[in-house]
Amino acid sequence: MSALTSLLSLAVVAHTAEALVSPDGVGKLPALGWNSWNEFHCDINATVFETIAQRMVDLGLQDAGYVYVNIDDCWGDKNQRRDSATNEILPNSTRFPDGISGLADKVHSLGLKLGIYSDAGTSTCAGYAGSLGYEAIDAATFANWGIDYLKYDNCNVPANWSDEYAYNKDNGTSNAPPGYNWDTSNSAKRYHAMRDELLKQNRTIQFSMCIWGEAAVQTWGNGTGHSWRMYGDIYPSWSGQNGGTWGVTPILNHASFYWNSTDFWGHNDWDMLEVGIGDLTFEESRSHFAMWAALKSPLIIGTPLADVADDIVQILLNRELLAFNQDPAYGASAMPYKWGRNPDGTSDLKYPAQFWTGSSTEGIHVFMVNTADEEATLTADFAEIPGLKGAGDEFIVHDMWTGKDIGNFTDRVDVSLKVHDTAALRITLPDGSHPNPTWTTR
Ligand code: GAL
Repeated sequence: MSALTSLLSLAVVAHTAEALVSPDGVGKLPALGWNSWNEFHCDINATVFETIAQRMVDLGLQDAGYVYVNIDDCWGDKNQRRDSATNEILPNSTRFPDGISGLADKVHSLGLKLGIYSDAGTSTCAGYAGSLGYEAIDAATFANWGIDYLKYDNCNVPANWSDEYAYNKDNGTSNAPPGYNWDTSNSAKRYHAMRDELLKQNRTIQFSMCIWGEAAVQTWGNGTGHSWRMYGDIYPSWSGQNGGTWGVTPILNHASFYWNSTDFWGHNDWDMLEVGIGDLTFEESRSHFAMWAALKSPLIIGTPLADVADDIVQILLNRELLAFNQDPAYGASAMPYKWGRNPDGTSDLKYPAQFWTGSSTEGIHVFMVNTADEEATLTADFAEIPGLKGAGDEFIVHDMWTGKDIGNFTDRVDVSLKVHDTAALRITLPDGSHPNPTWTTR
């Protein structure tokens, strides 16, 4: 076991907090929806959300389960910030002429839910009012407006709220004493404060913590929110990096060490989807979607939907990958069972683990990512797949992309993949039954 993996297993042992269990199953499964940030940044107004909400219905995304329409940063009144008498946070009245509650009514009338964004600091990342110290009034305001989901960011934390110890999310090390409980850190306290106020409201609000993997959040996120961001911001590129934002492979690399902190009611959030955006090819978009679904990440679409191409919509609508992500009986993430190109346990931002497996109601699944910069044939060797051990040597292999069986195979199946594409396979016994219903990844 490498130093990194042994540290990570310690972090997993410390992950004991009771999950945040909310009424009506809210937050039990990864959230599905749309968010404005990846494509619109601060250039948002009520029309953007009304148009998107209608498109989500028209494109069949709502029917597929995507229900949250999420407003990201920059919805507030940047100058006045709060009502001088009541301290209530103020929306930008030019961009949102009917207020946020007016928008909530429209979104709700379509059967969708509305999400909003705030920050556990004095200002949001883009400089709008933050909620630190205003948790009670802001939680009540959001509930009054009809908000269903809060993304809570981590910018502009004042010095008196900084953490006592430093945590390095890249390798899981810190200068805290052994056994230190990060649930007692100031970071955790800032997020607990908003959780506690949200829980006082007469409305269920899904709590999405945007804390970028800081303060060992994977050890206390489960008791605090329904999901927690685990890494820096995503960027629409396969393996590139743009300032503090990251392509798909660096995030997948991080996930190969931290997949184990996800289960029902608490999810690592690997950031919003960039499917069909930026530099991503069709195959890269497929891999991004398949792996985020396999990781049981919230699937929050960032694609502008106005003139989205049909092949991109079909990725987002993939019924079998969504079913894996939303499985009612198996809550754990897929895990890497073999790295492939690199020795197991290697951290590599460009060439992360390639061979992943998980279980669902339907069978054992294998996801094989062609990280090579050329076409490649990847082999799922049944003897190496933990959930198939002892289950026989002949299986039906089914392609989750086409929804069709590829055939019956003994010992192994080879799949040829275009550059940066991913094979998404479901494996069952020759009679179609589950090879190992009691096996899960955690
Ligand atoms: C970042 C966050 C992004 C986006 C942005 C808005 O901190 O990770 O997802 O919300 O702030 O300013």
